[in-house]
Amino acid sequence: ALLGIDLGTTGVKAALFAVEDGRVLADAFFDYPLYHPQPGWAEQNPSDWWDATISAIGACLAKAAQQGIQPADVRGLGLSGQMHGVVLLDDDHRVLRPCIIWADQRSDAQCRWMTERVGASQLIDYVSNPALTGFTAPKLLWVRDNEPEIFAKARVLLLPKDYIRYRLTGTLAMEISDAAGTCLLDVKHGQWSQEVLQAIELDPALLPPVVPADAVAGTTTEEVRSLTGLPAGTPVAGGGADNACGAVGNGIVEPGLALVSVGTSGIVLAYSDLPQVDTSGPIPRVHTFNHAVPHAWYLMGVTQGAGLSLRWVRDNIGLPERALERWTGVDAYEHMAKEAAGVPAGSEGLIFLPYLQGERTPHLDAYARGGWIGLTASHDRRHLIRSVMEGVAFSLKDCFSIIREQGLKLDQMRATGGGAKSPLWRQIIADVLGAELVLTNATEGPAFGAALLAGVASGVYSSVQAACAQTVHVIERTEPRPQVAGAYEQAYETYRALYPALKPIIS
Ligand code: XUL
Repeated sequence: ALLGIDLGTTGVKAALFAVEDGRVLADAFFDYPLYHPQPGWAEQNPSDWWDATISAIGACLAKAAQQGIQPADVRGLGLSGQMHGVVLLDDDHRVLRPCIIWADQRSDAQCRWMTERVGASQLIDYVSNPALTGFTAPKLLWVRDNEPEIFAKARVLLLPKDYIRYRLTGTLAMEISDAAGTCLLDVKHGQWSQEVLQAIELDPALLPPVVPADAVAGTTTEEVRSLTGLPAGTPVAGGGADNACGAVGNGIVEPGLALVSVGTSGIVLAYSDLPQVDTSGPIPRVHTFNHAVPHAWYLMGVTQGAGLSLRWVRDNIGLPERALERWTGVDAYEHMAKEAAGVPAGSEGLIFLPYLQGERTPHLDAYARGGWIGLTASHDRRHLIRSVMEGVAFSLKDCFSIIREQGLKLDQMRATGGGAKSPLWRQIIADVLGAELVLTNATEGPAFGAALLAGVASGVYSSVQAACAQTVHVIERTEPRPQVAGAYEQAYETYRALYPALKPIIS
């Protein structure tokens, strides 16, 4: 069996998969808090991740044992995780401050400084991406500017899942698909960009070695065995960024295939054979990152608030659904979807902007803000819910359109993430994109892709492509409905006009 771990924004999942066909043998999920010390800030405690990871591995192995699968049957472990977070370790490899995670928007001044120091077009040349508040380097510079006493003690920079690997194995390393999101990696060659490090005066010694996704990067310690039962010496693969692992688990390992993910953030990601960059405007609006497949890349548009927006609605407007959930045990999101299904496509003119934590694609604006526009007395809660699902779909369409403009083939879109489990949301996204959305057997999300990478690393499969060919298959299809295409086109047009019109006021 192969063990996949996905260190997400809401919690960590451990899942065990069968080598032959990728079927799920056992899984476990443990959540942890997300802190917003100030508006626009987002932090988590690496020790919370570690405790939850240990609990998840232990619980997953215990469930597997009930079916006769023993910890010694685990051939390898793969790690997937939320991207871009800054984890700083001191001389003794202790965590220096809470992790500033991907969603944090505090580093706009550092983005501007970095862009000026390196030069806007040189930066794109060196690292294939602009400096954005979502990425790692600007967050690191924020610590240098605002917490110099902490920065002075920093000896190692790690990303979230790479910190977990350090705790599991004792190896300090940054895996390539995640390193791509630091804005410090020469994405074309897979090495740290000495030019950028020099220009922003960062000591290269802070950066651990870059390691491949599909090779062994360390083996588990005796301490891990005593905490979870997993035998010491179990190989741990490089693994990958959550989006790269989501792509691998859905078989997005060849040209023509793309992924739509609705997690806390939303993404559209398309496989590319080349590190090509969006040159349609002055700044690339979609990212170019290394894939977890060797010598491959992907283009990715990101909307900061996808599942996040619907969770906000559930927690603040969905109180009846929360109450029903307590009485009936039926998920609040399912109740909400039932309500939303009673409203026609386009939410009768109500439009939602999902910019609850600023926006990346297409606006690249940390200060963008969300809202409902077009509210009338005839709208009710159902419209509020549906319009949020539609607003997120419009934002995904922005990502989809920019990627398509780059000339990449998008033959098949595969859907993943918690939000894609909702048939209504899948239908809305298929309708808005005007594209068929398929679901694969990667129901455990990025943990599956991470496990497949562990399988390649430990020699179970000959390559990532071979692993996918053996284990990934389509289980369901959602076709776009032509009868609602017009309603959505009209609503999307209004949606597109709103941000530029409101920018002077809300951003
Ligand atoms: C991608 C990004 C998010 C996180 C979510 O650039 O910031 O999708 O990876 O975990």
